[in-house]
Amino acid sequence: MGKKPIIVKLADIEPKTKIKDKFLYNNGCPCGWEYCWGIYNEQRHAHYHLMWSYGVPLPESLNCIPYIEPALRRPDFGYMLWRVRPEDPNIGHKFAYKMARLMQRENGYDLPGWHDNKKHFGKWILKQPIFYALVTRDRAVGFTVVEETDHYATWDGTPDGRSEFQKGRKKLKICLVWVASLWRRMGVATTLVNEVAREHKIPIEDIVWGIPLTEAGKALAFSLTSRGWIYIG
Ligand SMILES: CC(C)(COP(=O)(O)OP(=O)(O)OC[C@H]1O[C@@H](n2cnc3c(N)ncnc32)[C@H](O)[C@@H]1OP(=O)(O)O)[C@@H](O)C(=O)NCCC(=O)NCCS
Ligand SMILES: [Zn+2]
Repeated sequence: MGKKPIIVKLADIEPKTKIKDKFLYNNGCPCGWEYCWGIYNEQRHAHYHLMWSYGVPLPESLNCIPYIEPALRRPDFGYMLWRVRPEDPNIGHKFAYKMARLMQRENGYDLPGWHDNKKHFGKWILKQPIFYALVTRDRAVGFTVVEETDHYATWDGTPDGRSEFQKGRKKLKICLVWVASLWRRMGVATTLVNEVAREHKIPIEDIVWGIPLTEAGKALAFSLTSRGWIYIG
């Protein structure tokens, strides 16, 4: 069995600290599943790996009955944006948690918005965060978790190019953003971030990117600004 992935606490780490490539420390699958013997484990992995690759199927109850108010319908573009807020029913939270676990396993991120245990399964502990999923047909293929923050710095992407963290006007922060692996580099994350910025009526360049950023996350953040620096928080 490989070593356990390192769980990185979002707030602890400076952006210049790279999240370790899982191939270096985890003797497992790119989805983050660790190899170990047993048919039961392999079946669970196969099921999990499909979700990591294609996205997470919506629970039927979510499909048929609008338990969760869609934030946005874009039938012309073939997607919808689903939103889960703290006050929403538990079924939405369970679904959001299921998606967030994919990112936790693949990238080693801590999940700041949830209790990670059975008792509180699917429940939010923070009051603020909102979860958005981009849904095509019956699958959610990407998600983001956002919250407000008044503590941020600017960063030009270089090791020494970060300003001091300061308290300022409240801004929207992307805490987590993740896209199913077969859907990557197709504009899903860009669409998610654009739609969220639009819903909150803020310019996309005003978004604060939660640290630590992965290499792909950094590339995404810089692709969405033309001024050569971003807010991090
Ligand atoms: C980061 C992530 C969310 C990007 O999602 P995505 O849907 O593939 O991003 P987009 O297709 O909208 O990419 C927009 C632009 O960002 C940049 N970009 C995104 N991923 C990149 C990568 N892996 N390498 C280099 N540039 C990348 C590119 O400029 C891209 O435009 P292009 O495809 O026209 O060149 C996705 O790779 C992912 O889920 N990774 C694992 C989780 C993760 O690292 N999350 C970020 C945490 S900070
Ligand atoms: Zn796998």
